[in-house]
Amino acid sequence: MEWTPSRVALSAAALILIASAGARLSAHGNVTPQAVDTSALPDLEGGNDKWVQHNPYRGNAKAIEIGQSAYGQNCARCHGLDAISGGIAPDLRYLELGDSGDEWFIQRFQHGSVRDGKVYMPPMGEVLGQKAGWAIRAYLETKHSED
Ligand code: HEC
Repeated sequence: MEWTPSRVALSAAALILIASAGARLSAHGNVTPQAVDTSALPDLEGGNDKWVQHNPYRGNAKAIEIGQSAYGQNCARCHGLDAISGGIAPDLRYLELGDSGDEWFIQRFQHGSVRDGKVYMPPMGEVLGQKAGWAIRAYLETKHSED
């Protein structure tokens, strides 16, 4: 097949169409969660499916590193880069530290938030898994602010 100028122009136009369709999709927040590799983290006692209420990885340097990247890929588009909210969703630096903050955090992570039939936040538990959730929580505690 010859690459005549008109063919080249056509395929360039097709590429632009595909690219803008992609941009439209993400503008609607229709983004597939990005799997998180948590194999470097210790397994949880009851397995990944038995949800615990307190962070088993608090202060764990490896978890904080994994959590930072997982946050950037899955939460930042709503909760803001570096955990600083631009106002679309709550600023997660203000979550309570420690065990009581853990319970609230993991409940939201697992089930998201649906009010009056509207999805404010999609559930993350099944797609990302518990280990990723606690890694993100460990990262967020390093960003905590009292202001
Ligand atoms: C599509 C946007 C969106 C994404 C993606 C998202 N969230 Fe949320 N999140 C929200 C909104 C909106 C709320 C507030 C819900 C409400 O008011 O009922 C919220 C609430 C929360 C809360 C409760 C905050 C509070 O102050 O009460 C936590 C914790 C939380 N999200 C964690 C996460 C984590 C961790 C991720 C990534 C794994 C994430 N969210 C991804 C939109 C999102």
